[in-house]
Amino acid sequence: MIVLQWTRTLSVGVEELDRQHQHLIGLLGRLREVIHGPDETAVVGNVLENLVSYVGYHFAEEERLMAEAGYPHAELHRNSHAEIARTVADMLRSYRADPTSLRATELLEYLTDWVVLHIGNEDIRYRPWLAKS
Ligand SMILES: [Fe+2]
Repeated sequence: MIVLQWTRTLSVGVEELDRQHQHLIGLLGRLREVIHGPDETAVVGNVLENLVSYVGYHFAEEERLMAEAGYPHAELHRNSHAEIARTVADMLRSYRADPTSLRATELLEYLTDWVVLHIGNEDIRYRPWLAKS
């Protein structure tokens, strides 16, 4: 399994947003530690709760800055955020209905895809509009 870490190549040119992305990537590390361990179910729930509230905060912040900067693809980007937020909320709902239904590996796979595809392909595109330097 690839160890995903925040690197300069994922930088969107805004320090605060880079920090928020690092925090999100940090959640991956917690999942990796508990795969197939005794704390797996509890940590999956905890990560999901954190994720739902943190992506809400993070996406709002990105969307505010995109709007301020007049980023031309903001609407498309907002749609992508809404889809991710919906998926994470669905995952939390499934977890609450049956905490054993979601394994750490599944959540990790989803988050890894999201981090790689969303930050690396979509967030990076607003860099020229939002970056201060
Ligand atoms: Fe984004």
